[in-house]
Amino acid sequence: PVSRSPGRPVLLLTRRLPDAVEARASRDYRAVLNPEDRAFSGQEIAARAAEVGADAVLCCAGDRLDAAAIAALPQGVRVLATFSVGTDHIDLEAARARGLTVTNTPDVLTDATADIALLLLLGAARRASEGERMIRADAWTGWTPTQLMGTHVGAKRLGIVGMGRIGQAVAARARAFGMTIHYSNRRRLAPELELGATYHAEPEAMLPVCDVLSLHFPATAETRHWLNADRIERLPPGAILINTARGSVVDDGAVIDALKRGRLAAAGLDVFENEPNLHPGYRDLPNTFLLPHLGSATMETRNAMGFKALDNVDAVTAGRPAPDRVV
Ligand code: DGY
Repeated sequence: PVSRSPGRPVLLLTRRLPDAVEARASRDYRAVLNPEDRAFSGQEIAARAAEVGADAVLCCAGDRLDAAAIAALPQGVRVLATFSVGTDHIDLEAARARGLTVTNTPDVLTDATADIALLLLLGAARRASEGERMIRADAWTGWTPTQLMGTHVGAKRLGIVGMGRIGQAVAARARAFGMTIHYSNRRRLAPELELGATYHAEPEAMLPVCDVLSLHFPATAETRHWLNADRIERLPPGAILINTARGSVVDDGAVIDALKRGRLAAAGLDVFENEPNLHPGYRDLPNTFLLPHLGSATMETRNAMGFKALDNVDAVTAGRPAPDRVV
């Protein structure tokens, strides 16, 4: 229960956060924690915010704050600071209409997420999860010249859709592996940022040169199921798909069908539509390398995300402009 002593604003944290983040929240606010780390629905978050008289809510990517939940938030809530760079779980229009400030945590998770994209790329190309499962099942009978042969990533062409901070960090890492970089983005990068990558104004025009396709654009109503059967058919046969963005930007049925046929050689996926209830077809396939949304999951990054979210709450509750205001 929150102490009702006047003074510090009341901050509702919807999930457990790293110790250092909770400690700072509790030092600076009348912080209401979620010690059981139970996932709340949007309506439950709104009800909890009303119950404790919240001035600010620090929410997470798994919290679905739709228009109804935003409408149910008590008027005293001035800021919704999400512990994520993605904001697809929040109805931003509803927040804007209500005059609620929404903030996110860009920059601090760029490197961690790019690292996971490379982990998925290498893991999918080199059949890492098949090898791991073989050892764990005690099915490895020893080295053979033809066992689990994957594909070499150097000299392959990597196509990046969405060349923002994370896309650029993925390109920098892939270059070190000797990959040729193609990208598509609403705007062409300045030459000093392009570093020899080939720009394609239309992502569809880039697909035929993508031996590996890595997705780095936000989930919106427009980008839902962007990678569909038609776009998969434009890729070179045996392409590899990497997704660290959001699950909803791919059509699971089309991707699973292409993986079954070998039209896609492999997929490395960190994000899924309807997490954690991913399409069961992914689990049954040998050529998928699956991670449970670990993009930003390093201690350093999660601390930095928490501090950034708190910086934003600090600003709004003190009447200053939020450094990472989304709406
Ligand atoms: C984000 O920040 O959007 C990630 O997906 C969760 O860390």
